[in-house]
Amino acid sequence: MAESTAVKLDPRVQQFLEGGPKRLFIGGEFVEAESGKTFPTINPATSEVLAHVCEADQTDVELAVQAAERAFAVWSKVSPSDRGKLLWKLADLMEANLEALAQLDTLDNGKPIRETRHADVPLSIEHIRYYAGWTTKIHGEVINNSVSPNMLTYTRREPLGVVGQIIPWNFPLLMLSWKIAAALAAGNTVVLKSAEQTPLTALYMAHLIQEAGFPGGVVNILSGDGPNTGAAIVKHPRIRKIAFTGSTEVGKLIMRESASNLKCISLELGGKSPNIIFPDADFTKAVPGALLGIFFNQGQVCCAGSRLFVHKKVYDNVLADMSSYASKLKQGPGLDHSTEIGPLVSDEQYNRVSYYLNKGREEGANALIGGKPLDGPGYFVPPTIFTDVSDEMSIAREEIFGPVVTALPFSDEDQIADVIRRANDTEYGLAAGVWTTDVKKAHRVAHALEAGTVWVNCYNSFDASVPFGGYKQSGFGRENGSYALELYTQVKAVWMNLD
Ligand code: NAI
Ligand code: MG
Repeated sequence: MAESTAVKLDPRVQQFLEGGPKRLFIGGEFVEAESGKTFPTINPATSEVLAHVCEADQTDVELAVQAAERAFAVWSKVSPSDRGKLLWKLADLMEANLEALAQLDTLDNGKPIRETRHADVPLSIEHIRYYAGWTTKIHGEVINNSVSPNMLTYTRREPLGVVGQIIPWNFPLLMLSWKIAAALAAGNTVVLKSAEQTPLTALYMAHLIQEAGFPGGVVNILSGDGPNTGAAIVKHPRIRKIAFTGSTEVGKLIMRESASNLKCISLELGGKSPNIIFPDADFTKAVPGALLGIFFNQGQVCCAGSRLFVHKKVYDNVLADMSSYASKLKQGPGLDHSTEIGPLVSDEQYNRVSYYLNKGREEGANALIGGKPLDGPGYFVPPTIFTDVSDEMSIAREEIFGPVVTALPFSDEDQIADVIRRANDTEYGLAAGVWTTDVKKAHRVAHALEAGTVWVNCYNSFDASVPFGGYKQSGFGRENGSYALELYTQVKAVWMNLD
């Protein structure tokens, strides 16, 4: 008999899931929504309810903003070094709770446990530590003005105040970490809304934030949907900034709504990223790289390499290799040690991806592997590679956000202009990949691609220190690295007459 490979549930997860509805975290306390409303969160591997969660509305948003305002008066006076210590303490607690966080993210989102253990949670911890280090390194400068030697001019980098953060469901813990770490390091206080599909790790983190000893109200965590909870955050007159990751459609809405009080905004939106394999690529790297580029996280990645351009000379071989690997990927529940590809996050996402699978066939594309959603329980869609695709088809233009890649041959020999033109022929500009062993070509193509990130001979690499964000309709503002601090500080110039 085959040995069971199911992961044993961590007692801390069991305990967390038991009991009544999960409460909101406002002003350092766990509280129910004023309305008493709750909503279920679903395990996408089984379609069963995991837990009920309190649903914040406008009243709770108001309470959270008040708590964050009170906390700002305290937090902005905490010394940089002490802010750093608290962030570091939080990272230590996350490390001590790594398995629980990994299991909860897997249960709520569906992603394989091998990924949450080895990518989502460790990257989140590193992220918090990285910004713990920044707290003591946020400086203004003394400016050498031409007015007078007795006029001292200098700048200060000051926090904005209360910032609103709205995150998606594809990397629930990592997106929370990206959002809160830079904001807190710079001295802001936070009202964060998790995605309605994946509220659990955010609320587990609220316990760790409390345990670490952050002053109450520095981080407030709300659960709820977009039109209700999210919109109340976006419209709130005393929130100074909105940081959003999600769909381009909602990004545009947020930009319009933020005009009410001229909030600062940063938007990290969708993509349809090109991944280009030249004939001189190292295929031992390019083939697994292209697979990782599209199938990582079930393809639910804003920077997924969903338009795969492969040179005609190597097209058949690359596609044959990719199909052979991809058809062997083990698909199953995320909470199984052997699972390499899990379910999609929700029935909505399952329907959306299924729609595109149909659409692809209708448009005349051929599914080399996959192509049909699996029957339930759970929201499983197999890895799918579409060939016979033209650049105009909707499967080659619109973000599918699932394990679906469109393979597009290109043919020019030495001229790279044509494939670059095709790669850039999109409203999006989040990321791109290039596979070649020719260093000159690599740089030329990297410079010509209209994208916020270009990966050469790698894909989906991330680090807290390296900026990430979009060109064109993939958004603006850069998270990570020193760049994110610009999103969370404003510059004050001080003139001082010494005469
Ligand atoms: P979405 O953009 O609606 O949701 C993302 C976040 O925004 C969630 O927290 C949601 O509650 C919130 N939100 C939704 N409407 C809002 C509103 N009116 N005001 C304020 N907040 C609001 O994305 P959704 O519906 O979950 O997925 C739809 C598609 O969006 C996906 O299929 C994918 O193509 C894209 N997407 C892109 C992501 C990225 O990382 N860039 C992440 C999630 C989705
Ligand atoms: Mg939506």
